[in-house]
Formats: sequence, C-alpha cells, structure tokens
Amino acid sequence: MKASAIANLNIALVKYWGKRNKELILPKNSSISVTIEGLFSHTTVEFGEEYKDDIFVLDGKEFKRGSEEYDEYIEKFLNFVRQFSKINFRAKIVSKNNFPPAAGLASSAAGFAALATAINKALNLALSQTELSILARRGSGSATRSIFGGFVEWRKGVKEDGSDSSAVQIVPPDYWPDFRILICLTSKKEKKIKSRAGMEQTVKTSPYYRAWLATVDEDLKKAKKGILEKNFTLVGKTAEENCLKMHATMITTYPPIIYWNEGTIEVIRSVLNWREGGLETYFTIDAGPQVKILCKELDVSEVKKRLKNIKTLENTILARPGRGARITKRHLF
Ligand code: PMV
Repeated sequence: MKASAIANLNIALVKYWGKRNKELILPKNSSISVTIEGLFSHTTVEFGEEYKDDIFVLDGKEFKRGSEEYDEYIEKFLNFVRQFSKINFRAKIVSKNNFPPAAGLASSAAGFAALATAINKALNLALSQTELSILARRGSGSATRSIFGGFVEWRKGVKEDGSDSSAVQIVPPDYWPDFRILICLTSKKEKKIKSRAGMEQTVKTSPYYRAWLATVDEDLKKAKKGILEKNFTLVGKTAEENCLKMHATMITTYPPIIYWNEGTIEVIRSVLNWREGGLETYFTIDAGPQVKILCKELDVSEVKKRLKNIKTLENTILARPGRGARITKRHLF
C-alpha cells in the first residue's frame, strides 16, 4: 500500500477565485490553466497498520497536528480518502517540491495532484483521470487541473455533490510549442493570507465580486478560442485582464488583500511599456507577489535581457506547457 507520483504545478490563465461549497471545494466559476513542465511535487504515500497517526513531511519539515497544513489540508483530505475508500489505515506522506520552498508558487496544486495520483495506486482505487481530478480537488481547488497536462479547464459543474466538478484537457502539452512563461520571483517570503481564507473573505465582502462572476464566462470563451487557435494575443490579453479583475476583487475586500509588492508593480509596468514598444508580452499574477510573464519563444532572450534591469527581482524561471500527473517508481522513503 505504498506508491509515489509526480505532478507539475499549473498557472491559471482564467482564475478560480471563490467557492460555492467550502467543504467539497466547489468553485463559483470555471477556470483555465497551463500545466508547467519541470516545476513539480514528488510525493510518496504509504498506508499501513504500523502508523498510529498520519505523518506528513514536506520538504524535510514534519507538520504536526495543530498546524494549519496538517489539520486543514492533509488530515481533512486523508479522512475523506478513508471514508471514500473504506480503508481505515493511517498514512505516511513525504513530499518534496523541486522549486524553491519559499518561492510563493502555489505548491498545493502540484502537491495534491501528486498525492491523489499516488493514493490511487497505493490503494488500488483504479480511478479514471476525471475521478482523480475530483479527488485532487478535495485537497485544493487548483490541484483539480494539475492531473492533466497542457492547457486545462476545470469545469465548475452544477451538481450539489460535486460529481461534475472536474478538469478536462483542452490541448496536450506539445500542441503549442512556442508558448512560454517566465516566472518572476519578486519575493521569497511566505504569503500572509492563504488563498483559502482570501477567497472566502472576498466572496463575503468585495462589492466587485459580482462583476467578477458576470465577466468570467466571456473570459473562458476567449481563452479557450485563443488556445485552440494558438492566438497568443487573444490568450495573453484575456489572461492579463482576468488577472487584474481578480486582483480588483481582492483589493476591494475588507480588510483589503493586497498581494503585490514593489517588484510586482515594477514588472507589471515594464510589461505594459514593452508591449507599447512592440515586444508582445502579458502578465498574470496569482494569490501572491510573483508575476508570470507570458511570451513567445522567439522573444525569450529579449525578455530575459530586459528583466536583468529590474533590480527588485530575486530570480526568474523559464517554463513551458508540461505533462500531467504520473506514477513514479522512485519512493521518498
Ligand atoms: O487552489 P487554491 O486554494 O490554492 O487557490 C488557487 C487560487 C489562484 O491561484 C489565485 C487561482 C487559480 O485558479 O489557481
């Protein structure tokens, strides 16, 4: 009852922000993302009698009962797995991210996609990829999408029990070979407000949340069309506008949630200036200060050169569309 899996993280082009059901992690809106090759979580899970309690070790640090990571994320997820699989054993989970631990990149997407994939094998559940994405969803919303590679849509679904709230692949990773993402790390500090709390606060208090919901379907349509046609302008413009709309709801939440720092704003302004000057780039930002620049492969060296002038940047990582979650024979314990 032991297995390991690897799952890449994903970056949303049309964001998920807000739940209609907190317990089942059901979103208010559908979302679209691109799975990122090479930035992954490697996770090993083992169920067994020898474990008197669940054990969770992430990047060499053990999280104990009483911590948010253990109680709110791992324990809730494992309890659901036990109830659903009718297996009563406790589990040991060891997980490692290959990206800088404090990079502020959403690690829960890759983490829960890898964990769900490993559990499926360890417990012989024989789940389909759709069912796997539903299982990963119970750990973290964005993990729903990391089961699949390439460009992915998480369809919000309409059913109360969440059985139709799962992800589908729009196109595979190699469909759009010159699509690139430059991840700009503007801070290595851990974010203060986790997305889980942030989105709940936004839904409750932002007067603009309704406007967000009213425009998201149009963004989904445009992003999907842009991806299928490999129309970089349409995808980039839609992603950037969608990101700004999401952040507008965050900023107008009470108390306000402002994830940006000085570096974030400097990268935003740079991208807008470059575009005016003919270098076609767009930005997107999640629940943190890091900026992801969307660009075409032929512009990567120019963008990198220009980024060197931004002194507030800690680091940049070049990425492309990547594979979905998969089993590996390499166990971490
Ligand atoms: O899955 P969570 O709870 O980490 O929320 C993710 C929220 C965003 O990253 C801001 C948007 C998204 O769609 O990934």
